[in-house]
Amino acid sequence: MTGLTVQTGAQFSAILGIGGYRPRRVVDNAEICTYIDSSDEWIRTRSGITERRWASEDETVKMMSLAAARKALERAGVEPGQIDTVIVATVTHLHQTPAIATTIASELGATGAAAFDISAACAGFCYATAMADSLVRSGASKYVLIIGVERLSDLTDKHDRSTAFIFADGAGAAVIGPSTTPGIGPVVWGSDGDQAGLIKQSEPWNRAMDGDNFDDGDPHWPVLQMDGNPVFKWAAYTIAKTAAEAMDAAGVRPEDLDVFAPHQANNRITDAMFRALKLPSDVVIARDIINHGNTSAASVPLALETLLESGQAHSGQTCLIIGFGAGLVYAGQVIILP
Ligand SMILES: CC(C)(COP(=O)(O)OP(=O)(O)OC[C@H]1O[C@@H](n2cnc3c(N)ncnc32)[C@H](O)[C@@H]1OP(=O)(O)O)[C@@H](O)C(=O)NCCC(=O)NCCS
Repeated sequence: MTGLTVQTGAQFSAILGIGGYRPRRVVDNAEICTYIDSSDEWIRTRSGITERRWASEDETVKMMSLAAARKALERAGVEPGQIDTVIVATVTHLHQTPAIATTIASELGATGAAAFDISAACAGFCYATAMADSLVRSGASKYVLIIGVERLSDLTDKHDRSTAFIFADGAGAAVIGPSTTPGIGPVVWGSDGDQAGLIKQSEPWNRAMDGDNFDDGDPHWPVLQMDGNPVFKWAAYTIAKTAAEAMDAAGVRPEDLDVFAPHQANNRITDAMFRALKLPSDVVIARDIINHGNTSAASVPLALETLLESGQAHSGQTCLIIGFGAGLVYAGQVIILP
């Protein structure tokens, strides 16, 4: 029997550039309170959110993805034609098939790149980071473009008190490629399907579009439903342990960390994790949720872009990222900022 030829890639990988796109329309808490019985004070104190962005008609999943990707490529100094894999993390590309990643690869000029979407909700960007790191180090790819993008406003019931003030829209992208030094630590990830019902689409599309399934006989556009309180407890306690494991796996102690950029789900969850991880007070914490709400797969790269653009964080710093959400799914790793 002849042995197979196998390939190996770069010894290390790193994030080479990050870019984001935020929709133009700012929706403040006063507007939200015209849809639900709530108050600016309740929303700010319980979640940290003061405003969020909702996409307009032209700000499609594709448009936002392309804008974020072009910025990430330019900052990475990588040409679209050098990208050999495109991974898009999203739960709001409303076509079952084809994946949006193939169109994005073509429109960017990443001709012939392998391209596919993943559905890992608010952990999507961290899942994609782990996959890109593995592809680069295995030799299957040299440069991978990953995108986290959502138009959650398409699947949000604006009159639902438990979700209307949280969900928002946007896109964040990163280029991952070979590096002479380690730039992405081992991923700690997993899932808990026993809790799949805590955050979910109300009905599958076929059921939702058939009025016979509803008392009023009308089709019902499906929406995201969330049982917030158990999700809050799971995120604040269980996921903090995952974050600690990601630091251990990378050999990073709390005093070695410069930046903490968790999924932007709720400022109180971020605070609880920060306390559980016993991070020093000078660690910079991402607070993108205040102005941008929860953008699911886009939230970590958007938060990173905000920190880098504002000068709160810098290239070469050590940063813990962690995503968690519907599934339930989670993934975290330590990265070196581009
Ligand atoms: C959604 C969330 C902010 C709600 O906060 P909470 O402290 O859990 O709130 P509860 O649902 O326990 O409700 C507390 C009270 O506020 C009220 N309330 C709920 N939603 C409200 C709203 N939008 N405005 C005003 N009051 C509200 C409830 O009726 C309840 O009132 P009561 O004490 O008189 O019964 C919080 O659970 C959360 O952030 N969960 C995690 C979300 C998350 O991470 N999701 C994404 C992972 S991807």
